[in-house]
Amino acid sequence: MTATDDKTVVREYFNATGFDRWQRIYGDGEVNKVQLDIRKGHQQTVDTLMGWLEADGNLAGLSCCDAGCGVGSLTIPLAQAGAQVYASDISAKMVEEARQRAEVALEGKNLPTFEVKDLEELAGRYHTVICLDVLIHYPQDKVQGMISHLGSLAESRLIMSFAPKTLFYSALKKVGEFFPGPSKTTRAYLHREADIVKALEAEGWRIERRTLTKTQFYFSRMLEAVKDQ
Ligand SMILES: C[S@@+](CC[C@H](N)C(=O)[O-])C[C@H]1O[C@@H](n2cnc3c(N)ncnc32)[C@H](O)[C@@H]1O
Repeated sequence: MTATDDKTVVREYFNATGFDRWQRIYGDGEVNKVQLDIRKGHQQTVDTLMGWLEADGNLAGLSCCDAGCGVGSLTIPLAQAGAQVYASDISAKMVEEARQRAEVALEGKNLPTFEVKDLEELAGRYHTVICLDVLIHYPQDKVQGMISHLGSLAESRLIMSFAPKTLFYSALKKVGEFFPGPSKTTRAYLHREADIVKALEAEGWRIERRTLTKTQFYFSRMLEAVKDQ
């Protein structure tokens, strides 16, 4: 499958059955046990990241790009903390859901700018660019280009999370059930941390903080990469 086909599949999935499934997982309504576990794991990733950013003490007014924002699980707390957030996703349904959730949660204050866009078409400059749990849709040979592009938008910091490949077989099996079609497992790309670090370092980034969130069905390695100015 070519990268374009991959993206078409991802876009269509997150505008249809994937949207229904993930907006429930990233919500607070009733879900099954596996989905609840993933919800809790993902929330831990968001909470850890918000903890890092809040500890720095400069979130108010900070320009942040949330690339592949989903339903706004990170976008909203970032805006609540005063950041100026630009949020985008390849799926129009995800973006519309994020916009609606943000309007309710933020009561019209400090609303993020939302856009439907493939993250490789994003432009602009932001202090911090964040891309959580999106790399699962990128095969290894597309990672360097993706990191290079997101890095070109970031003035000081690039934060990414991905499913680590060390847990490949167990994680793939578990992640696989969330993707449609006969070749569903092949569309969940897991990555070796060393490969992601290498791709970041090749673009001049240095790893500042890292964490691993691990529940029964959710695995996510998060890296904060910085550039000294
Ligand atoms: C697992 S969800 C994570 C959403 C969000 N980052 C979060 O952590 O709550 C993956 C999201 O990435 C989006 N996505 C996948 N490929 C993308 C691309 N090339 N450009 C922009 N968004 C993309 C999907 O539409 C989906 O909303």
